[in-house]
Amino acid sequence: MAVERVGVSFEPELLEQFDKLIKKKGYTNRSEALRDLARDSIVQADIQLPQGLVVGTMTIVYNHEDGDITNKLLHYQHGHHDLILSTTHIHIDGHDCLEVLVVKGRAEQVRALSDNIRALKGIKHGKLVLVTSSPP
Ligand code: NI
Repeated sequence: MAVERVGVSFEPELLEQFDKLIKKKGYTNRSEALRDLARDSIVQADIQLPQGLVVGTMTIVYNHEDGDITNKLLHYQHGHHDLILSTTHIHIDGHDCLEVLVVKGRAEQVRALSDNIRALKGIKHGKLVLVTSSPP
């Protein structure tokens, strides 16, 4: 891949902190760290576009004995099977369950799905992580 060189100016204090941070993260040079930041910024901007195609995961934790959460969740997931590619269920202990939903669709649809699942009574924790379907 062709690369283009650019010059970047930093205030000395900022550069010092940046160098410390990227060293801690394991980068061997500034260029790769800056490229990763640029890619992440582009992905973060893209996933804000309501119609953008996104893929990601939603992680939820709930107590399967809490009301009829298990049934509600199953019913909701079947109703949105077009957005949910797969589901992994782990029994954390005698009560709590962790599920990871792999999701794909238009950003606004996937966010609505995530918000609605999180709002179900009995969901203790819900976290959505999205990336664009074709990250830079
Ligand atoms: Ni379980």
